[in-house]
Amino acid sequence: MDQAADSYSTSTPPLFLLGSLALAVSLLVLLGHGRGKTRLPPGPPALLFLAKFAALRRSIFDLGPMIVDLHARHGPVISIHLFRTLIFVADRKVAHRALVQGGATFAERPPAVDPTRLFTSGGRDISSSPYGTYWRLLRRNLVTEALSPARVAHFADARRSACDGLVSSLLKEQERQGQEEAVTLRPLLRRAMFELLVFMCFGARLDREALDEVEELLHQALLSFTSFPVFAFFPAVTKRLFRRRWAGYLALRRRQEKVLVPLIHAERAGDDPPCYADSLLAVRMADDVRLTDSEMVSLCSEFINGGTDTTVTLLEWIMAELVNRPDVQAKVYEEVRANPELSDLQGMPYLKAVVMEGLRLHPPGHFLLPHGVQHSGDGDVEIGGYTVPKGAEVNFLVAKIGRDETVWTAAREFRPERFLEGAEGHGVDITGSREIKMMPFGAGRRMCPGYSLGMHHAEYFVARMVRDLEWRPPVEGEAVDMVEKLDFTTVIKHPLRARLFART
Ligand code: HEM
Repeated sequence: MDQAADSYSTSTPPLFLLGSLALAVSLLVLLGHGRGKTRLPPGPPALLFLAKFAALRRSIFDLGPMIVDLHARHGPVISIHLFRTLIFVADRKVAHRALVQGGATFAERPPAVDPTRLFTSGGRDISSSPYGTYWRLLRRNLVTEALSPARVAHFADARRSACDGLVSSLLKEQERQGQEEAVTLRPLLRRAMFELLVFMCFGARLDREALDEVEELLHQALLSFTSFPVFAFFPAVTKRLFRRRWAGYLALRRRQEKVLVPLIHAERAGDDPPCYADSLLAVRMADDVRLTDSEMVSLCSEFINGGTDTTVTLLEWIMAELVNRPDVQAKVYEEVRANPELSDLQGMPYLKAVVMEGLRLHPPGHFLLPHGVQHSGDGDVEIGGYTVPKGAEVNFLVAKIGRDETVWTAAREFRPERFLEGAEGHGVDITGSREIKMMPFGAGRRMCPGYSLGMHHAEYFVARMVRDLEWRPPVEGEAVDMVEKLDFTTVIKHPLRARLFART
């Protein structure tokens, strides 16, 4: 039984298990825990939804298209009953009222379930820790000690050398393959960004083997976040049923700690800029308590993962648009050529508009991380006119909001000009504090603390890739296929391939 269960697809639990769970959920709903007493957002019956979900054999991250479908049928706020009530919001004004005007009400995170719990030391990284003192301390430490403009400026040389390495490895690859063949961007770009984040985190330049190992360990843990959360259902039972899978996660976590703990405590060279690990070693909580090694491993993994895939996905989408649109690429080139040292990205409005348009049309996350709800006293919490039950998770349709036809002209088209002076998107507030027109980093108290670093990396890498290389499609005149695929982020389904020519 154990073996049979474990040899089943890694992301899909057996149908019988989903069937029994759906039955249990439906019974709870019938017994009065569901609609009827209060006005819950509309949505499909649990049994029907789970049956459809299981029939399509999807991972939890593939919920996306099904949710968009449900919104079309039920309206801007819907709910689904799985292991918890999941509420989804597709309306920007409702999102603004909840996340920004609602203060701390929606700033909670739902309790982490395994294996996320395991890889975050029991919910002790920033993104999964409950709204409160620990979260505030760690978030402030990240923002002031690692992401402040002064700290980010310290890493200018590291960014330059990451891009030097990227451009030269892209050209080498092009040379190796011959000028008629196209080069795949993603693996080389990912490695360059990963190496940069590792340096910002540990203050160390690792050799190739060590980088491979750290990358593999973090990637494996990331994959576990996206598989179906089978241990959310009756964990004592499912951990026995899927014993080998659980043992695999435990072993992965042990290896992660074995490899990352020495990097956190390593001696740093005196002339290197202060790194994130240094700041974590200096954190003191109440009664002078320090962070444990396990907590620091989770926080460093979050830093590297949070800053790598998101930015790489965004950059790949932007470069794909630039391959399809030589006119836009030429305008970026004109701008960067006038300031080839790239010392003043602030003075490059077109480059900035290209990155903003990338974030609007291709946000790396089509959803936020799940938000929990704080119920103070006996008062009901509402969203968009519906009651939010205790223990519910709330999420927001980031991509749909950025592509809202009532806000953006030709919303499905890549038009950076819309962010230039005098146009509809000029001066749009990316933090959403005044109003939400796009929310690639979320909004409100849980908004991404790395947003300015993410945007800076995106601008700098685009500028370098266009300054040094001309990007042409694999076959002259043929457009790049822009189909989306849900991974940890929403990536371009067929990784971007292009023919590259060094600019002289
Ligand atoms: C283009 C790049 C990036 C994008 C699109 C992005 C997007 C997001 C989104 C959508 C969230 C969830 C917000 C919510 O749940 O309301 C988030 C949270 C977070 N991001 Fe980013 N991010 C990016 C870069 C970074 C970088 C560079 C770092 C750090 C080095 C980072 C660290 C975090 C952390 C720690 C959280 C959790 C915040 C909390 O729960 O308080 N991100 N990010």
